[in-house]
Amino acid sequence: MSNTATLATLSGSDLAADPNWWRQASVYQIYPRSFSDSNGDGLGDIKGITAKVPYLKQLGIDAVWLSPFYPSALADGGYDVDDYRDVDPKLGTLADFDEMSAALHAAGIKLIADIVPNHSSNRHVWFQEALASPRGSAARERYIFRDGKGENGEIAPSDWESVFGGPAWERITEPDGTPGQWYMHIFAKEQPDLNWSNREIRDDFLKTLRFWSDRGVDGFRVDVAHALTKDLTEPLISKVELSAANTGTDGFDDGSHPFWDRDEVHEVYAEWREVFNEYNPPRTAVAEAWVHASRRARYASPQGLGQAFNFDLLQADFDADEFREIITRNLAEATESGASSTWVFSNHDVVRHATRYGLPKGGGKHAQGQDGKGWLLAGAPAEELDVELGLRRARAATLLMLALPGSAYLYQGEELGLQEVAEIPDAERQDPTFFRNKGVEIGRDGCRVPLPWAPEGTSFGFGDGGAHLPQPAWFARYAVAAQDGVEGSTLELYRTALKFRRELQTSEEMEWHESGSADVLHFSRPGGWQTVTNFGDTPVELPAGEVLVSSGPLDGGLLPANTTVWLR
Ligand code: GLC
Repeated sequence: MSNTATLATLSGSDLAADPNWWRQASVYQIYPRSFSDSNGDGLGDIKGITAKVPYLKQLGIDAVWLSPFYPSALADGGYDVDDYRDVDPKLGTLADFDEMSAALHAAGIKLIADIVPNHSSNRHVWFQEALASPRGSAARERYIFRDGKGENGEIAPSDWESVFGGPAWERITEPDGTPGQWYMHIFAKEQPDLNWSNREIRDDFLKTLRFWSDRGVDGFRVDVAHALTKDLTEPLISKVELSAANTGTDGFDDGSHPFWDRDEVHEVYAEWREVFNEYNPPRTAVAEAWVHASRRARYASPQGLGQAFNFDLLQADFDADEFREIITRNLAEATESGASSTWVFSNHDVVRHATRYGLPKGGGKHAQGQDGKGWLLAGAPAEELDVELGLRRARAATLLMLALPGSAYLYQGEELGLQEVAEIPDAERQDPTFFRNKGVEIGRDGCRVPLPWAPEGTSFGFGDGGAHLPQPAWFARYAVAAQDGVEGSTLELYRTALKFRRELQTSEEMEWHESGSADVLHFSRPGGWQTVTNFGDTPVELPAGEVLVSSGPLDGGLLPANTTVWLR
């Protein structure tokens, strides 16, 4: 199996100008409010990130992806945006942003901003104006307003459900105080969906893309990229009819769903591409699109966003067959679309992989359904969790991923081997998934707990004023300072692997080798770089070669269970 596009090894200023820098980049996701707090208010901020640029440089990543940092009431962790062209005053100022961007660039690190086009927040001036304006007004046309059904309009326009649970429609009170129209929100009610058939919305987003690109942002991560355009022709199709039409396991594969993955969405991204190409090097983008695998390539097309997340490994068990099938298929898909593949195990929406892999098989699977099912989060009881095994497998899986052609997306804290935090009292939870599904889903707060930088001190070195989500006592063991320079620590494993990755990654080709065991995957990249992962329970013999790095201790000439090694 090989993926043929090539990439010269570039470094320093060459890399800054290289239009292909993203193809094999390692991208580190920062969830700003939980990364580092410079002013002691318990919330991470922009200056906190700037202060940690040396840490990021030493880690050896190529780019930072910043989750939303815009003004927000945090009804959905910042994915409810009040103003697309500003910085949340709780996080800093535009000047702080520029300073951070300059510091990252000086360290040779690119900057990717998260952009949230499907919905604004309900505090956005547009939505406030829509509430204050009459039915049928231009202000209401920026969103999706409908009259309700029933004698007095008291029944929602359709039975659609929000991804976070509960109805996808909310009724408003008209300016004259009477019960009024309903607006659509695929996510929380504080996140009204924008009307992408309105030219004004399209133009305003082009302005936003230029605004951040002019400020030096190198690329964008596009939030729910597959939801923007909708078919709202009356009568609205009911959820019962929708599930009858959706016979596949993976969502619609023909663009016929009224709001997920419609073909028209690509007209939007074709316009975005023109804006990206105004810059040198062109700005990049990666789509968060939970779509049928057969439709992912459209988002990743060079005429569109250029790259799309593939969440297949993230949804897989720690299993050799599953990994091999997913890798093979995705590399083939990437070749077809002209993009490079994307790999990811953890992000701010899912249970950390060190925890998933410590749960019984199948129990660690998490996905975001596109049919209103929302995130499936582990409800597995604590006694079923094997922390040590989870971390061992997570390290092995990551070392395998870092050897694959394509870009690797890492989530803050995984380089510390952090586990999901389960012990958050209900009263301190923040995720709307929890509030809209009380007792069913615990939500995503467990992977968003502020990072431990030091083994002691207020909030483990996150800041001087506590942490906005409670950190458990066991965070001490995972702190940066507890792992820095410690041989065999997860942090040192990531540093070593990322350093070798930069050196060894010369092309996008890879080749599978017969490993002699169904539990072992073995592949090589040009230049004699080999990767072997033992997914099984018993040690296997190592192929010949110099050991560059391994995810756990080796046993003489043997590769222990749940371990990956790089050889040359
Ligand atoms: C994306 C984000 C998630 C957010 C949702 C709504 O899936 O990753 O965190 O809640 O979109 O914006």
